[in-house]
Amino acid sequence: MVRKTLIAGNWKMNGLLDDGIALAKGVGAEFKKTGRRDCEVLVCPPFTLLTSVKKAIKGTRVQLGAQDCHFESKGAHTGDVSPVMLKDLGCQYVIVGHSERRTNHGESNELISKKAAAAIEAGLKVIICIGETEQERDAGKTIDVCTKQIMGSVPQNATDKNTVIAYEPVWAIGTGKTPTTKDVEDVHAAIRKVLAKKCGRAVANKMRILYGGSMKPTNAKELLALPDVDGGLIGGASLKVADFAAIIEASK
Ligand code: PGA
Repeated sequence: MVRKTLIAGNWKMNGLLDDGIALAKGVGAEFKKTGRRDCEVLVCPPFTLLTSVKKAIKGTRVQLGAQDCHFESKGAHTGDVSPVMLKDLGCQYVIVGHSERRTNHGESNELISKKAAAAIEAGLKVIICIGETEQERDAGKTIDVCTKQIMGSVPQNATDKNTVIAYEPVWAIGTGKTPTTKDVEDVHAAIRKVLAKKCGRAVANKMRILYGGSMKPTNAKELLALPDVDGGLIGGASLKVADFAAIIEASK
């Protein structure tokens, strides 16, 4: 069973034209140098940089993704961007349900499921984010929370080919804190079991589960070596070429 490693950079609301292009070029050049075909590398810049980043990574096999989308393909939704538009622009991926969207924009599992379904329908691959808060972890509810999020936000049309799950404990995002490797492996294994219920065992065995939350060059190797960790969703460390390249290297 082979699940191709995915190293994804989530730039969040960072990057102006010049530094965004430089970062994308740097990542592209570093990944090209490796000549690796055993892993996928993805960058998810803000909407404003998608077109420039697309040009900057041309010919490098680095893929392009967005950080969110609407569930409709067009219409009266001021300020929103549709999955059809992202596909049209040349995106291969879109992140949905990031904890910052769930918290700052009150996104529910139901809404995230609709977004994911529409993105898949538009021909994009989706990265669906899940993860517990510190309070939920302390209350021993990590698996319960992740189970509810998977059951509620993974859509009916999800398969291993079009869907990736990112497990991101909310308390680990941008904090420098990470769960122990044992905790990460236990939660990932539990997630795969829930996915088997949702999508069937065969699909669940092939679906990639990324870890996200303070992944950096110093901890990437041990996290990425865990059997049910199939890559990383990286925020802060994806904004520096050297750090992101070191994480790609650690996935060998
Ligand atoms: P971080 O963010 O790597 O800065 O913790 C990860 C994420 O939110 O995707």
